Amino acid sequence: MIDTFKIGIAGLGTVGCGVIEILQNHKDMIKARAGREIEIVAVSARSQKDRGIDMSAYDWCEKSAALADHEQIDCVVELMGGDDGPAKTLVQSTLESGKHVVTANKALLAHHGYDFAIIAEQQRAGIGYEAAIAGGIPVVKALREGLAANQITAISGILNGTCNYILSTMEDTGRDFDDVLAEAQSLGYAETPPDLDIDGIDAAHKLCLLSALGFGVKPDFDRLSIEGIRNVTAADIQTAKNKDQVIRLIGKATKEGAVMKPEYIPVSSPLAAIKSAQNAVLISADPVGDIFLTGAGAGRGPTASAVVADIIDLARGNIRPVFGISALNLK
Ligand SMILES: NC(=O)c1ccc[n+]([C@@H]2O[C@H](COP(=O)([O-])OP(=O)(O)OC[C@H]3O[C@@H](n4cnc5c(N)ncnc54)[C@H](OP(=O)(O)O)[C@@H]3O)[C@@H](O)[C@H]2O)c1
Repeated sequence: MIDTFKIGIAGLGTVGCGVIEILQNHKDMIKARAGREIEIVAVSARSQKDRGIDMSAYDWCEKSAALADHEQIDCVVELMGGDDGPAKTLVQSTLESGKHVVTANKALLAHHGYDFAIIAEQQRAGIGYEAAIAGGIPVVKALREGLAANQITAISGILNGTCNYILSTMEDTGRDFDDVLAEAQSLGYAETPPDLDIDGIDAAHKLCLLSALGFGVKPDFDRLSIEGIRNVTAADIQTAKNKDQVIRLIGKATKEGAVMKPEYIPVSSPLAAIKSAQNAVLISADPVGDIFLTGAGAGRGPTASAVVADIIDLARGNIRPVFGISALNLK
């Protein structure tokens, strides 16, 4: 009889609560898939408020860092966010103590993923981060496992739902950027302040990780060239339309480097058909050809779906090289 796989969750917001819901509501299915029970042992957040979910069976940790040293825990699920501070401390100390980590935190991995990968390899621990890139779309598994026999030649993607919502709504309605941004904020598609999204930073964090996975380079956020969408005007969108084109915030990675910027693309491109807050990734690889993945890049259910898939993977005993090859061989 294999032991129960025990997890601790730091961060009980949109994604954290979504993960608990899946684990509570689909216990038997998840046990069957993982080959053993997955049990939440402890949780942590800033405040112990009611979140509409029964968490009475879980230990409460006042400080998230306590999860790393928790004797019973096999895997810490970091869903707090932030590229430094408590999230970094927790992930680093969890890996140093030889436990696995699952995180949705692209900012953290884009800045510290290489160091974490080195520690994980030394400790034979796994890092699951499917949810960090394009939410519910299983692009990490596609690149790292499904396409392992291929030479990746290019990865292009629409990696930020807020920007895509704004650009495709400007295209459909002829309205100005500021007007559509305000609407996106009122609908909850855009944060206030919106800078991380509209300046292309959030999408670039994801592109940085895709580059590492596709081209065996160290994730190094400072190497990316980044331009957001705040200067795209209704006139630009009209100019594109006149040429049978659309404007999308496109991240493109090749072995030469990675660039995030608004681009004019022909309406015939599969990326042009991506509307509203959807995400998409186009992988060009040899010998398989083009693979196009599309779906929800964010939101409680889709993001939690990817987090739980990683937990199941680790419970099965699947520990992969974090960026597809040994961290020591990343260039
Ligand atoms: N939301 C999405 O659709 C989505 C999609 C892909 C990836 N992600 C990533 O998933 C992560 C979580 O996102 P989210 O949307 O769930 O965020 P969120 O709703 O803001 O929740 C964040 C949670 O972390 C807790 N927290 C924040 N700082 C903390 C600290 N210093 N110590 C302990 N707990 C702390 C908060 O506690 P309180 O509740 O007590 O304030 C809250 O429960 C982020 O890295 C984000 O980039 C999110």
